[in-house]
Amino acid sequence: MTTVYLNGKFLPKDNAFISVMDRGFLFGDGVYEVLPVYNGKLFQFQQHIERLNSSLAAIKLPLHLDCQEWQQILTQLLQYNSEYGPNQSIYFQVTRGYSPERNHAFPATLNPTWFAISQPLKTLSYEELKKGKQVITAKDTRWQLCNIKATSLLANVLLYQDALDQQCAETILIRDGYAIEGATSNLFIVKDGVIITASLSAWILGGITRDLVLNLARENHIPCEERLILENELFSADEVWITSSTREIYPIIQVDNTLINKGLPGELWHKMINLYHIFIKNL
Ligand code: PDD
Repeated sequence: MTTVYLNGKFLPKDNAFISVMDRGFLFGDGVYEVLPVYNGKLFQFQQHIERLNSSLAAIKLPLHLDCQEWQQILTQLLQYNSEYGPNQSIYFQVTRGYSPERNHAFPATLNPTWFAISQPLKTLSYEELKKGKQVITAKDTRWQLCNIKATSLLANVLLYQDALDQQCAETILIRDGYAIEGATSNLFIVKDGVIITASLSAWILGGITRDLVLNLARENHIPCEERLILENELFSADEVWITSSTREIYPIIQVDNTLINKGLPGELWHKMINLYHIFIKNL
């Protein structure tokens, strides 16, 4: 059975319990990370820990993760779950923990809950990716602090499910006339050879994959722009991609009823996914 990490202990998944008074359970009062593991190595580990530390600060949880300590804990977790092979994904969350009563106010004494679980990383093969994915668009109904990787994800859950119910891979969120990001991913478009993605702000989650894609593009002299994408630009883009730690880079070939690049992944997507896979191989 899967082993999980809970508050300093490694336990079989079915024997790991938290209190019903946990603020993660009652209020979604916590933050999280999802980080891929390739060939037994924690991918972009420092970046994930830094983002988690930023999320903790943003929700006023006075905790700070030490990279070395958590590298050891998560590596141990992977060893416990070695039956899942060398490529796994780790879900890691911290909540404001136990409170003696249900009250919006922060508890007087902090008892955070630390939880991590790993599972097999199911990335798609190049052959599968090449078929492309379809997405829908919808109004961004999330709160105003989307830069925080918070566990309170009900809006994202509902928006993502709408896509699945229409046999699509993602919902692209529209706010004030701009295409912001996906319900579970960042958004990129390509126009006239330039890669464009929303600049960092409270409207988007600063994706670790987004950062890596931008860095790889710049290192390879592919022009990039970080700026808001108008909703119209999404439909008239030469290419559309979504990125996330578990999906890498998906080429989008249809947005609502509009075909992108005649329904085929574009030239720059082929280039980027190749650079991304080379980066992983060379870890
Ligand atoms: N989601 N934007 C949103 C709203 C996300 O939920 C995610 C990732 C991203 C991409 O971030 P990254 O490249 O760091 O994975 C962008 C994860 C995978 C999840 O919630 O499961």
